[in-house]
Amino acid sequence: MEQNILIIGGNGLVGKTISRILKSRNPHVTVFIGGRKGGKTDKDLKIDVTDPSSFKIISDKKIHLIILSVNDKEDHVLHYAITHQIDYLDITKPTHALVKAYDIAKNAEVKSRIVFSSGWMGGIVPGLVNTLSDSGDINEVKLFVYYSVKDLAGESSAHFMAENVAVPFVHYKSDKPVAIRHFLDTEAFNFSYGIGNRSAYNFDVPDLYILNRVERISDVSVKMTYNSKFITWLLGSFQYLRIYNILSLKERKMIFASSGNGDQTVFEIVVNDQSAQKKLSLQSLKGQAELTALSAVLHTEELLRNPHENKVYFSHQLHEPLSLMAQLNAYDSININVTS
Ligand SMILES: NC(=O)c1ccc[n+]([C@@H]2O[C@H](COP(=O)([O-])OP(=O)(O)OC[C@H]3O[C@@H](n4cnc5c(N)ncnc54)[C@H](OP(=O)(O)O)[C@@H]3O)[C@@H](O)[C@H]2O)c1
Repeated sequence: MEQNILIIGGNGLVGKTISRILKSRNPHVTVFIGGRKGGKTDKDLKIDVTDPSSFKIISDKKIHLIILSVNDKEDHVLHYAITHQIDYLDITKPTHALVKAYDIAKNAEVKSRIVFSSGWMGGIVPGLVNTLSDSGDINEVKLFVYYSVKDLAGESSAHFMAENVAVPFVHYKSDKPVAIRHFLDTEAFNFSYGIGNRSAYNFDVPDLYILNRVERISDVSVKMTYNSKFITWLLGSFQYLRIYNILSLKERKMIFASSGNGDQTVFEIVVNDQSAQKKLSLQSLKGQAELTALSAVLHTEELLRNPHENKVYFSHQLHEPLSLMAQLNAYDSININVTS
């Protein structure tokens, strides 16, 4: 069957990578790219997410699935997908925006597949958690993230940190939300893949909400460390001294605007259930954009190949957990290691 897939934000770092991986693995699909400038071919569509009058072309081109890879604060694309019964996969939402969008979708009459894939690295963490134990048995999940400032990073990702660094968020203890702030509350963690002992600090990703509110795991925390110990310490000191609160958005964007030539990204999931502690370590040698894009492609392939009914999903719910892990592990630049 003919499949038309539109990647809005498809000229960006992650969108371009989704397009490359999707086309190479699925030569039969037709991929359209949406962006503000349009482009030279009939596959380049001029779409501005802030201007819903530019969306008519989505219906004209008979798009079956929209992959959203640019921030859409007003959820214009989500509304359009629901109204026009188009499948929708969204990798972009920070936690508070995800909660808002999920509410919109839950309360709408949904006649397509609406998939929220905004968790860390394209929404794969809860699926990997479920390879370690049944979520019903898990008491605690801790996610540790290693982020290199030498990795490639798109402008939108930097803006995301600049906008949210001074905003308090919650993690979960004994099933209760506890208010915290980014880059505080250090915890020592011994990272795999030669990284070694690091101090890791509070970090807000939608997995906090998804693991507690959807998977019903009572204790959930996320901590991150940068490749540079000095930068990790400096960002924490800025938060402690409340410097982010007095800097303008433009100044905060300058702090987080770094993008290098590429580096690895690593995350580790530590799960405690009634009987044991288990750890899953994942390394993407080609960095965060490649891994996020691969995850989006795996979710897309699930939607294309398997009969998922029309409803609202978090992306891990599309997959059988061990199959998701096997598909990630089969990718040449990804390594996964599980220990008890
Ligand atoms: N879930 C995850 O794990 C994860 C990981 C990484 C990134 N992300 C998210 O993925 C998104 C893309 O990140 P990125 O690093 O690829 O960012 P990026 O390089 O800045 O790409 C965004 C692209 O969107 C287009 N764009 C900007 N404003 C637009 C508008 N109003 N309407 C339509 N298109 C617009 C731009 O192209 P034009 O100039 O052609 O318009 C730009 O190339 C961000 O929301 C980021 O937070 C999620």
